[in-house]
Amino acid sequence: MSYGIRYDLLSEDRIKSVLKSRFIPQKVYAFWSIGTTNDFAYRMAQQGDGDGTLVIAEKQERGRGRKSRTWDSPFLRGLWFSLILRPDLPSAKAGLIPYLAGVSVSEAVESMLNIQPDMKWPNDLLINNKKFCGILSEVDFNNGKVNFIVLGIGINVNQLASEWPKDIVKTATSLRLATEKIIDRAELLAEILLKLEENYEHAKIDGFEGILRKWKKRCSKVRKEIVIQQENQRFQGKFVNIDEDGCLLLKYENGEIKKIFAGDILY
Ligand code: BTN
Repeated sequence: MSYGIRYDLLSEDRIKSVLKSRFIPQKVYAFWSIGTTNDFAYRMAQQGDGDGTLVIAEKQERGRGRKSRTWDSPFLRGLWFSLILRPDLPSAKAGLIPYLAGVSVSEAVESMLNIQPDMKWPNDLLINNKKFCGILSEVDFNNGKVNFIVLGIGINVNQLASEWPKDIVKTATSLRLATEKIIDRAELLAEILLKLEENYEHAKIDGFEGILRKWKKRCSKVRKEIVIQQENQRFQGKFVNIDEDGCLLLKYENGEIKKIFAGDILY
């Protein structure tokens, strides 16, 4: 069977041959097919696998998104991977890691494909208002600190418009659709891991201020009026900032500031 991309298999050898980063990944699990890379990574982290372990699959049978949504993860078409991270962070700061991931994916896409994605809070990446990347982080805490984080990243890379399931055709895109080019997934992965490593090292030394600054620069909704849906509640106000724990700060008309931990920006 030909998928039109000669060397585009995400085997451990192929991944290692294109890597530019130094510490991430420190170990690679590469699967042809898996239920979800997040669950496998979570189990491996519980069994002691270290900071920077990568779990990647050509296909996920039960790809998962935020809020128990499904994440379509077709064979050979995208990057479906999870990283085990063990940052030295208090529990309250765990929510900062997805920003680091979003900025790193964006920087990799910018440098490799010369397009600038829009960040959608909390952690989607969009091109022309359609989503091509989602991030799902799952955290294990111990004594008020982060024990480990499983950072799950899903990127629609080489899908064509005709391949989307009906329910997401209007809201999803792929990098191939955005650039009209077939993209080498291993090279894109190598670029993402390099940016992730650089940002992670930077955050360990200087904290997350720089990451949040980069994130806000890439988010078109910052300083705009927005509506947030949180379970069955809606909040409307101006998106004024992200605080030091990663919460969105929403300013109401009366000047009051509300901290939002989770939700979806509707518009
Ligand atoms: C979202 O936008 O809702 C998050 C999507 C996260 C998808 C990735 S793909 C790799 C990892 N394994 C999963 O089952 N989910 C994440």
